[in-house]
Amino acid sequence: MEALTMAKLVMIVGILIGISLDSVFGQSVDSMVTSEFFDGIISQAGTGCAGKTFYTRSAFLEAAKSFPGFGDAGSATKSKREIAAFFAHVTFGTGHFCYIEEIARGTHCLNSTQYPCNPDKKYYGRGPIQLTWNYNYGAAGESIGFDGLNNPDIVATNVTISFKTALWYWMEYIHSAITSDLGFGRTIRRINGGVCHGKNEKEVRARVGYYKDYCDQLGVSPGPNLYC
Ligand SMILES: *[C@@H]1O[C@H](CO)[C@@H](O)[C@H](O)[C@H]1NC(C)=O
Ligand SMILES: *[C@@H]1O[C@H](CO)[C@@H](O)[C@H](O)[C@H]1NC(C)=O
Repeated sequence: MEALTMAKLVMIVGILIGISLDSVFGQSVDSMVTSEFFDGIISQAGTGCAGKTFYTRSAFLEAAKSFPGFGDAGSATKSKREIAAFFAHVTFGTGHFCYIEEIARGTHCLNSTQYPCNPDKKYYGRGPIQLTWNYNYGAAGESIGFDGLNNPDIVATNVTISFKTALWYWMEYIHSAITSDLGFGRTIRRINGGVCHGKNEKEVRARVGYYKDYCDQLGVSPGPNLYC
């Protein structure tokens, strides 16, 4: 059967059983995160920014291959909202991909028998989602395949690993807010709940602003419950 005929058949069957095309045809991550989309963000980082020559779209796409559920949230609408939400938080957290490492370089070590800190290392924010704390470095490293406790710096030097830590964190803690349509506000609460309930309206508004902009670029409505 020709592809077109097959597509029509799928469409007719979809309509008959009451599901929309939206859920029949997914969107590939590289078709959503186009060069134009990625460059539109990183081009806003100043020339002196360390991240500007570090983060690349190709490294992001390479990393995303290890997380097939990312940007494939069950429908084109959810997938686009997930991409918009991810890049909104990354834009806010890194200043349009300006920063690789957090400015305040605290130790961020919490007593842990499972993920004990190396006393010579610090677990401050690194990478697109600013991975922080020994237990996150330990768990991300275990999952991705690097020594997060003894070599947290690799998150700031290997861009593929760096994007993988961001996607790992996202899939662990944020992704389900998108798949269950809880709204962008819930993703803010999960990433930095301390700003919700009027505690830092400026930050919430900034994150929502990026999200709405990226939804607009991707051609999807932002959905309900934007604020937290
Ligand atoms: C962490 O563990 C060390 C050694 O086991 C202990 O001395 C210290 O009080 C603990 N710190 C906290 C904050 O629990
Ligand atoms: C980054 O890490 C990956 C996975 O360990 C490795 O295959 C790749 O060669 C590294 N890239 C660089 C530039 O070191």
